[in-house]
Amino acid sequence: MTQELNDGLPAREGALALIEAALSRRGGLDEAASANAFRFLEPRERAFARALAMAALRHLGPIDRALAGKLAKEPPPRVRNLLRLGATQAFFLEVPAFAAVATSVELAAANKTSRPFKGLVNAVLRGLLRDGGLSDASEHLAPPWLYARWVSAFGRDTADAIAAQIGFEPATDLSLKPDFDAAALAAELEGEILPGGTLRTERRGDVSAWPAFEDGVWWIQDAAAAIPARLLNLQPGETALDLCAAPGGKTLQMVAAGAQVVAVDRSPARLGRVTENLARMKLTAEVIAADAGVWEDTRTFDAVLLDAPCSATGTFRRHPDVLWAARPGDVASLAGVQGKLLDSAAGRLKPGGRLVYCVCSLEPEEGEAQVEAFLARRPDIKLDPIAPEEGGAPAASLTPRGTLRILPHHRDGGLDGFFAARFVKV
Ligand SMILES: C[S@@+](CC[C@H](N)C(=O)[O-])C[C@H]1O[C@@H](n2cnc3c(N)ncnc32)[C@H](O)[C@@H]1O
Repeated sequence: MTQELNDGLPAREGALALIEAALSRRGGLDEAASANAFRFLEPRERAFARALAMAALRHLGPIDRALAGKLAKEPPPRVRNLLRLGATQAFFLEVPAFAAVATSVELAAANKTSRPFKGLVNAVLRGLLRDGGLSDASEHLAPPWLYARWVSAFGRDTADAIAAQIGFEPATDLSLKPDFDAAALAAELEGEILPGGTLRTERRGDVSAWPAFEDGVWWIQDAAAAIPARLLNLQPGETALDLCAAPGGKTLQMVAAGAQVVAVDRSPARLGRVTENLARMKLTAEVIAADAGVWEDTRTFDAVLLDAPCSATGTFRRHPDVLWAARPGDVASLAGVQGKLLDSAAGRLKPGGRLVYCVCSLEPEEGEAQVEAFLARRPDIKLDPIAPEEGGAPAASLTPRGTLRILPHHRDGGLDGFFAARFVKV
């Protein structure tokens, strides 16, 4: 083995740790990043490990499909993941085929669980390479059960258009403080300003080195995720409640719009991110750790945002692991939580107050069905239809009911899948 290949082994072991953790439902890729095999890598190796793991997760569907034809029985998870990473390197990264195979075999040999499968790793990867490319059909990019759900919710053509987005690495989207010169920053970052004001750039990497980061004038936020808070049309001095606030992208928008904001989240650890983000942006909000369903507070607000916990299937462009970690039962159990949180949100509105409900989910049970059930339960709440392209929403996302069903292919270059609805308390 050459020195070059030895150099690549720790990075590949790091990528293995990332996908093992991401697919085990423990805490997704973010938590996986604290795994020792990843954390102690050199920056260059860490970047390769992350790129390799992300590419593997983005192409897991076609890779597993091809592996199914080569494996007579299920190998241990480490071996399957080594095969996935080997295939990713050979088919989706510019790693020479011999290096992809040799490093995978080396890594198999380096661990006692995978050592007996060294020969299998070699034979299967060589077999895949002999067969040529993997399937590029959109329907093979998503887990079959989720693809079937999208076909029944949106039709086959739309399901294909959604699934096709899984394979693309998204651009970086920034939200800016309203009084900041967006055009100048866009020029510096060679980006463009999207409808609604999001700055989109093809740049990636360590954003803390980007222009004006230290000045606290912009933050990372997907173009779709920035739409719901805009629908509140907050006016300076209004009171606003962000009921599921962490890590705080929408809290920042609400405070930057001039509102007096209370930010609630159940997770004290995640609330730390809200506090950090507020501090970097030099903005202030009252930050409270509480379960929004039972939080005892008698205040009422001009505006409430409920960005409820959900299956997060709409976020697959940045978190492809959500597709593979999700289970069919998740949607129904989360739908119950969302209904409870909606009732709690309604009780915290002033008369005439606005409520925006949103989820980064593609599943109708977490969106449209929640709206209808909520309206049926609450005679004091009316739907307030969203206007065409309001808040920068793509025209195609507006539903006949005046809610938003934002799909990942609704904007060139993609955006996260989101559902949003606006209500008013009568
Ligand atoms: C979709 S994320 C919110 C993202 C956030 N609004 C933003 O824009 O950065 C959902 C959040 O809901 C929180 N959460 C889940 N159940 C909750 C509950 N019962 N009460 C309060 N927060 C809850 C989670 O901790 C998580 O931070």
